[in-house]
Amino acid sequence: MNTKSYKSHIDRNNLPQHIAIIMDGNGRWAKERGCDRLVGHQNGVVSVRKITEAATEIGIKYLTLYTFSTENWNRPQAEVDALMELLVENIVKETPTFHQNNIRLLAIGDLKRMPAHVAARLQQCIDETSVNTGLSLVLALSYSARWELTDAMQHLAQQVKDGTLQPEQITEQTISATLTTAGIPDPDLLIRTSGEVRISNFLLWQIAYSELYFTPTHWPDFREEELYKAIVDYQHRERRFGKTSEQITGK
Ligand code: IPE
Ligand code: IPE
Ligand code: MG
Repeated sequence: MNTKSYKSHIDRNNLPQHIAIIMDGNGRWAKERGCDRLVGHQNGVVSVRKITEAATEIGIKYLTLYTFSTENWNRPQAEVDALMELLVENIVKETPTFHQNNIRLLAIGDLKRMPAHVAARLQQCIDETSVNTGLSLVLALSYSARWELTDAMQHLAQQVKDGTLQPEQITEQTISATLTTAGIPDPDLLIRTSGEVRISNFLLWQIAYSELYFTPTHWPDFREEELYKAIVDYQHRERRFGKTSEQITGK
């Protein structure tokens, strides 16, 4: 199939509302080319731009990108610094395009740990694009699911202690609403690039019923065609949510 054919196979009435992506393999992509890891990250940014454009164009409502994990703070300082600079530089560069394409930027994660100038520029872009009603682009930054769940539990425990919440009032809905993803629907499709078959502390609560898609393609090579292919694959699955196939199809 060529690019056009994958895209033309997408059923526009059965689109995943929310796609989440673990963007992995920048380092290996660079190493294979004898380049510095940073070159991989720079080319990964191009994929971010292409995938965001493609998602917007086909009408995806939420795109969450695992951009920097809690565990990534343990990388060599030079790489962490380079990633932070790349982030701030691209937020500045892309803000006009976000407006042009009606994209709203959101961020989830322990943003308090971000360098002040990065956090400030990020917040500025979030505020400026908050009026946009097209794609919500969610960057997971200094994010990990265990951090998020721990933070939420502390928050709920405090409310119980203060007497504003009864333990029996803690429901799945209360928990969802206490996470950093409050208000964002759970991902329908979770993609991980670069061949690793693991979740790496991403959205553990939210992916309870997501369809998982793993591809060996490194993130800098993951472009529109790969996204269309993943969507077509997703659309061939039967989401049963515990029910029987007969209940779902009515046959
Ligand atoms: C993903 O690529 C980018 C981040 C995690 C920030 P990696 O940098 O993890 O690339 P590999 O896994 O070393 O190839
Ligand atoms: C996951 O990638 C985090 C992001 C994509 C931001 P890693 O490359 O950090 O994952 P592990 O540690 O190899 O599982
Ligand atoms: Mg990796």
